[in-house]
Amino acid sequence: MIIILEFQGGKGMRKFVLILAIAGGTALAADGASIFKAKGCASCHQPNADTVGPSLKKMAQAYAGKKDQLVKFLKGQAQPIVDPAKFAIMKPQLTMLKGLSDEELSALADYILSFK
Ligand code: HEC
Repeated sequence: MIIILEFQGGKGMRKFVLILAIAGGTALAADGASIFKAKGCASCHQPNADTVGPSLKKMAQAYAGKKDQLVKFLKGQAQPIVDPAKFAIMKPQLTMLKGLSDEELSALADYILSFK
C-alpha cells in the first residue's frame, strides 16, 4: 500500500509531497520454503530424490488434494501415509514444528504440495 500526503504551505512556500510505502500483508505472510530450511527439514527431504526421508515430490503426490490431512500430520495429529515403516525417524522431527501458528503450518504444507 502506498500513501501519498501533500502539504501545501503558505504563499510562495514549496509544496511537500510525502510518500509512505507501507509493507502490505503479503510481505509479512509466512514463507513455507524458509520454514522448511530453518527447521532443518531439507537435510532429509530433497526435492526429487529419496534420501533419508522421502522426496518432496513423493510427499506432494501422496498428499495431493489432502492439505488438511498434511497439516494434521505436521501437528502430530494424523498417521503417516508416505512411508509408515520409517515413521520412527520422522516422528521426533515434528517437535521442531511445535509453536508454529496455523498460518505458518499452512504455508509449510503449501510449500511441500508445490513439488507435485
Ligand atoms: C532425520 C531425517 C528427517 C528430518 C530432519 C525430517 N524428516 Fe520428514 N521424514 C523422514 C522420514 C524417514 C520419513 C518417512 C516416514 C514417514 O512417512 O513418516 C519422513 C516423512 C515425512 C513426511 C510424510 C509423512 C507421511 O504421511 O508419511 C512429511 C510431510 C515430512 N516428513 C515433513 C518433514 C518436515 C516438515 C520436516 C522438518 C520439520 C521433516 N520432515 C524433517 C525423515 C526426516
